[in-house]
Amino acid sequence: MQKLVEKLVYAFGPSSREEKVKELIKKEISKEVDELYEDKFGNLVAHIKGKGESLMLAAHMDQIGVIVTDIDKDGFLRIGEVGGLRKTFLVGQKIVFEGGAEGFVFYEDKEMPWEVKEPKIEKLYVDIGATSRATAKKLVQIGTEGIYKPTFYINGTRIIAPALDDRIGCAIIIQLLKELKRKRMNYDLYAVFTVQEEIGVKGAKVSSYEITPDIGIAVDVTSVGDTPECPKVSLALEKGPAIKVMDRGMISSKKIREGLIEKAKKNNIPYQLEVITEGTTDAYAMQMTKSGVETGAVSIPTRYIHTPGEVIDINDAENAVKLLKNFIER
Ligand code: CO
Ligand code: ZN
Repeated sequence: MQKLVEKLVYAFGPSSREEKVKELIKKEISKEVDELYEDKFGNLVAHIKGKGESLMLAAHMDQIGVIVTDIDKDGFLRIGEVGGLRKTFLVGQKIVFEGGAEGFVFYEDKEMPWEVKEPKIEKLYVDIGATSRATAKKLVQIGTEGIYKPTFYINGTRIIAPALDDRIGCAIIIQLLKELKRKRMNYDLYAVFTVQEEIGVKGAKVSSYEITPDIGIAVDVTSVGDTPECPKVSLALEKGPAIKVMDRGMISSKKIREGLIEKAKKNNIPYQLEVITEGTTDAYAMQMTKSGVETGAVSIPTRYIHTPGEVIDINDAENAVKLLKNFIER
């Protein structure tokens, strides 16, 4: 699974520019599914036909990023946010733009930029080595999106990389599709790789409307409380995938939550319960579809979400595959 995660992390895919991630996923799963199509909005839908209720799994392909808002006469770029960026961690980072231009983010301040906390995005600029507006425009335009320069490092079972939110969720569903035994499937399965989650769970919203599943499960990341001097959150790396109870957007369906817990217990899969007050996932959109969908989520505990150095434990991802497999199969 490690190789798969690495490939996904290196794919360019800020919200609305998910094509590269989509191509990669298509290659990985085309032989595993009955139907593979893109909807009008850009979501990638994989269907494995089965008897019983319809189940929609969702993981988002997009990642947070930046977008060029202005190019000045000296070739410096001004940027806006795509999704919930943490500006403190943006200063001093390398950005890669669509098309390949790379730049360094710095902060406009006459005094001491290195002492400024959470600067306003208007104060940041990107230096792509251009000498004028004209030379900059050969590489980027107003509206060109960029991401943290991808890096991937694994130490034992811990991975450090940007965009694990939510490429790890994509990897889990890809792996699951490869491992599922069709004859044992309890559901008519739709695995949806969604677009534009980071700017308001948009892909999941339209996709679940089209599919109208009986049950929905999102696979995404969640925050943890296992680092020095951090807020008290009961979640930690390597204690198993988290079964969502609540986040800022939703309270999960009791039926799904208890179904997942039962399967985890029965099969000796470690798990933890997730209650957080920040953030939400595609599950929020699925739950509110039409007259309502029974919805839950399986989350991968992740440190430093939305920074260039998100940290996960690969065991949690592997156990998430196991848990979902046991939930879907008889
Ligand atoms: Co996110
Ligand atoms: Zn996410």
